[in-house]
Amino acid sequence: MFGDEILKVLITEEEIEKRCAELGEQLTKDYASSGNKLLVVALLRGSVPFLAELIKYIKLPLEMDFMDVSSYAGTESVGDVKIVKDLDTSIKGLDILLVEDIVDTGRTLHVVKRMLYGKGAERVRIVTLLDKPERREVEINADYIGFTVPNEFVVGYGLDYNQKYRNLPFIGVLKPEVYE
Ligand code: PRP
Repeated sequence: MFGDEILKVLITEEEIEKRCAELGEQLTKDYASSGNKLLVVALLRGSVPFLAELIKYIKLPLEMDFMDVSSYAGTESVGDVKIVKDLDTSIKGLDILLVEDIVDTGRTLHVVKRMLYGKGAERVRIVTLLDKPERREVEINADYIGFTVPNEFVVGYGLDYNQKYRNLPFIGVLKPEVYE
């Protein structure tokens, strides 16, 4: 489909599914001990494929809500994080699991996490499919990480370049000539 635009496959579909099952099992154990209601908050749009796979393995009652925040212009992060769509749910006293596709500079999660605590969340934990620590500008750590990736231009499984490639069932590295 996008064969001539992808340099290499970094993480296969099978590896992602296996890791989601492991993360789901861990999350089930960790959240089972908390008496609070679990609200899964996914950040649109990149987290959707990961969210869909992950929640199959969380064997607990949960509710879901979505936020849309935007921090990218082209290929580079900019300083500001814009709230495009806020939560519909009241989160006071809730245990929140924030679902992300990638932690890059960390700015998005830094802002969103602070916002959720500001609205009265009891506890906010972060699960991300990918972590790219080499790019970090703000100190933030995900509580659960699918895979740590090198500083390469990754797309697929929700991650885009100019809104393309989100539907790839794997994580691939984009050929530089596509974005240069
Ligand atoms: C991307 C990605 C993360 C964020 C990570 O979102 O989905 O939310 O950037 O970058 P940061 O750690 O540098 O803040 P984007 O705004 O591109 O939206 P999308 O999910 O719709 O692709």
